[in-house]
Formats: sequence, C-alpha cells, structure tokens
Amino acid sequence: MPEHPQTELAPQGGQTPQISEAPQGSGDAWGSKTSAPRRSPFTDPSPDSGTSAVIDLPAYGQGFVDDPYPYYAKLREQGPVHRIRTPYDQDSWLVVGHEAVRAALADPRLGKDWSNANLERVVGEAPLFTNMLDVDPPHHTRLRKLVAKEFTSRRVEALRPRVQHLTDELLDAMLAAPDGRADLIEALAFPLPMTVICELLGVPSIDRESFRAWSHELVSPTGPDEVVRATQEMSDYLSALIETQRREPVDGLLSALIRTSDEDGDRLSRDELIGTAFLLLVAGHETTVNLIANGVRALLEHPAQLAALRADDGLLDNAVEEMLRYDGPVETATWRCASEPVELGGTVIPAGSPVLISLASASRDPQRFAAADDFDITRDPRGHVAFGHGIHFCLGAPLARLEGRIALRSLLDRCPSLALDTAADAPNWRTGLLMRGMDRLPIRWDG
Ligand code: HEM
Repeated sequence: MPEHPQTELAPQGGQTPQISEAPQGSGDAWGSKTSAPRRSPFTDPSPDSGTSAVIDLPAYGQGFVDDPYPYYAKLREQGPVHRIRTPYDQDSWLVVGHEAVRAALADPRLGKDWSNANLERVVGEAPLFTNMLDVDPPHHTRLRKLVAKEFTSRRVEALRPRVQHLTDELLDAMLAAPDGRADLIEALAFPLPMTVICELLGVPSIDRESFRAWSHELVSPTGPDEVVRATQEMSDYLSALIETQRREPVDGLLSALIRTSDEDGDRLSRDELIGTAFLLLVAGHETTVNLIANGVRALLEHPAQLAALRADDGLLDNAVEEMLRYDGPVETATWRCASEPVELGGTVIPAGSPVLISLASASRDPQRFAAADDFDITRDPRGHVAFGHGIHFCLGAPLARLEGRIALRSLLDRCPSLALDTAADAPNWRTGLLMRGMDRLPIRWDG
C-alpha cells in the first residue's frame, strides 16, 4: 500500500476545484474592508505541486489563517491523512475529518514520546513541558490525578458567584466608555479567564502582561529565537514564583501542590510543578479568550441566531456548544509522535513522524454535522471535539463552559444593542496552527 496516496491539493486531471471565499452561512462583517483576495491552493498550484507529495501549509498564506475551513474541507474530500509542511518548517502529518480525528486522538501509538522522533523539538526538554499534556501514561495518569479533583463540575460550580462578580465588574468598566465602543478581548474575554485561573492557582499578583506575551509566543510563535526566549523567561518566572510560595505558602492550588503528597506519598518534582503551573495558566486563559471572542463574533454576524438567543434564554448552553463546534478556540491538538507505523484511513504514518490532528476540520465535517458550515444554535452540536478526545480530553472543560456561559449571558443582558464595530479596523486572526483566535474584537453599543 502506498504510504500517502492522496496528499496533494493541486488539481488532479486538469480540473480546477473551486472553493467559496467564505463558508456558506457565514458573513464576514469586515469582509469588504479586508479586500485582499484570498489565495486558493486549488486554483494556484502549490509550490510543491507535481514534484512532491508534501502539502505546504504556509504557502496557503493569509487565506488559510483568516478562514481555514474551506481548506480543511478540500483536504477532507481528498482523504483523512496528509503529509504537510508546517509554519514551523517541519515536515509532519495532518489528520482531518471527524472519524479519523477521534480515532487518532484515542490511539495510544500517537503519543508524546519524542525519543524516536525524526526531528529535534524546537524548544527541547524545558521544564515547562513536563506536564500532563506532554507525557504518556503512566506519567500522564499521575500528573492528571494530582489536580483533577480541583476541576470537577461540582468544584467548578462553586466558583459561579465569583465568576459572575468578576464578569459584572468587567462589564461595568467596559460600559462606562463614553463612546459606546470597546475591544471585547481587552475588556472581558482576556481578563475574565486570566483572573479566574490566577485566583484558582493562588497567584493573583502575577505579571499578566509579561505572562500574556510569553504565552502568545508559545502558542502562536513568531520565530524560533522568540520561542526559545519566551520559554526561558516563562520558566524562570514560574520557578521564582514557586520558590516564593514554598517559603511563604498562600491559599490556592499552587501552594497546595507544593506541599501536598497524594495518597501514595507522591510529590511533584520541581520541573513537574513548573510544567503544571505553566499548563494550567496557559490552557486556562488562551482558550477561553477565543471561546468568548470567536463565539460573540459568530453570534453578531448571524442576526437571526442572535435574535433567537435573545428570545429564548433556554438556548444559552446549546449556543455555547455550537460556538465551540463552529469556530472553536483550538484549531489543532498538540503535537503527537507515531511510536510505530500507524495506519489510518488507508494511509500509513511512519514511525517517528510528528502528527497534527485538526479539531477544526472534525467539527465542520458534514459527515458528522448536517450543514456543518452553518452557525445554528438550535442544532445538536454534541460530538464536537473542541475539548479534544481520549486521555488528554480537556481537564478545564467545566470551567471553560461556566465562564463562557456567564460571559455570554451577562454581555447580552447588559448590551441590548450589541453589535460588531465595523468602523474600527478589522481584527487579525492569530497565526500558528494551534489556536484559532483574534487579536481584538471591536464591538459597539448605544450608550
Ligand atoms: C473553551 C476553552 C477550552 C478549550 C476549547 C480547551 C481545549 C482543550 C483541548 C483540545 C485539549 C486537548 C489537547 C490535546 O489533546 O492535544 C485540552 C487539554 C487540557 N486543557 Fe483545555 N481547553 C479549554 C479551557 C481550559 C481551561 C479553562 C483549563 C483550566 C485549567 C484547561 C486545562 C486543560 C488541561 C490541564 C489539559 C490537558 C489534559 C490532559 O493532558 O490530560 N483547559 N484543552
């Protein structure tokens, strides 16, 4: 069997498949202002066309960053597994489509052991990456168990009054703007989850702007040197924070992890503490920011859906799930490495290969969701993979849902005339394959 029979996006047999500029049912409010034509990889041959079976994702350019869904649709049509070149300049493999994505996420052969990988990892073995999301069982099981009890639905429900209070305060400040305009990310979508996760960990005085910059660099890299620098600075910062709390414990999860042994007398090593703090702080805010911002954008771009939600409070939870499905915060899961040759959908991924699994392609798969490119808050969105699948399924899902629901409900209640501020510059989608998020979301309301 050939290893990668269907990996080129270039037209086959002289045909020129067409993709629409935007998925059906999605209106881009700033579309007319960002008028640079998107480049279609299907009408312009990719640089590798005809000479190699590798799909050059960076060559898709801004069109892929702004709206990756038509590209994923085309890839899905061609098969579930593709060899790709990534923005990180590493040849890799990409899994697309709902069925294959779930199978890949649940496959223990696609794990986190990089010892036999065909590449050097960009940032090496920094303490930051000694965390549950970067290791296989049994190490994963142990690290996850140590913090899992803090994130159960019951524990998270107890945070509801605090999350509501923070949301109210942030909206009070936002709505005081005399011109009736704000950047929703700056005003609510970033500070809410960041404050909640910092308070939970017991690090309320964290240097948020530095932390935000390092975190952005790690999830949306701008260059290899910048990644190495952000990794080092974040590591040093967290290491110092942990030393301070070791000397002077405070209320919160971080101090608890420093002093607590589990029932087997287990303790987190220094690197495991740094890695766990890093993961919770980054995963705890980078993602939920995008849930709130991408979700509000989708809602405001679909006035009939907005009206339906305003008319029926009971649709709120389903609307948040549809936001997670339609334009979820995480575009691809974190890197996996094939520990042995893995056959998926008729293609063999060789041992040692790095693998990316596209959550965005799964949640828009028409085989799983009818009219998958339509934003419809009344559909049944269950089965979306926005929180992943398998052993690394998001530990923070109950917290993210709580924050997303409270933020959305409160925003709609407090701003009856909420709209996108299309007079402001259009937001930019952040680069990188991991996250799907904007740098700003300009909104307006009648003062
Ligand atoms: C809407 C918001 C969120 C989304 C869409 C999201 C998504 C995800 C996804 C897709 C994964 C799996 C990644 C993979 O398999 O490579 C994951 C893992 C994880 N998430 Fe979230 N997340 C969100 C919010 C949060 C929050 C608020 C926390 C708070 C602590 C959190 C903590 C974690 C942790 C610790 C893991 C690793 C679990 C493991 O390896 O066992 N996430 N998340």
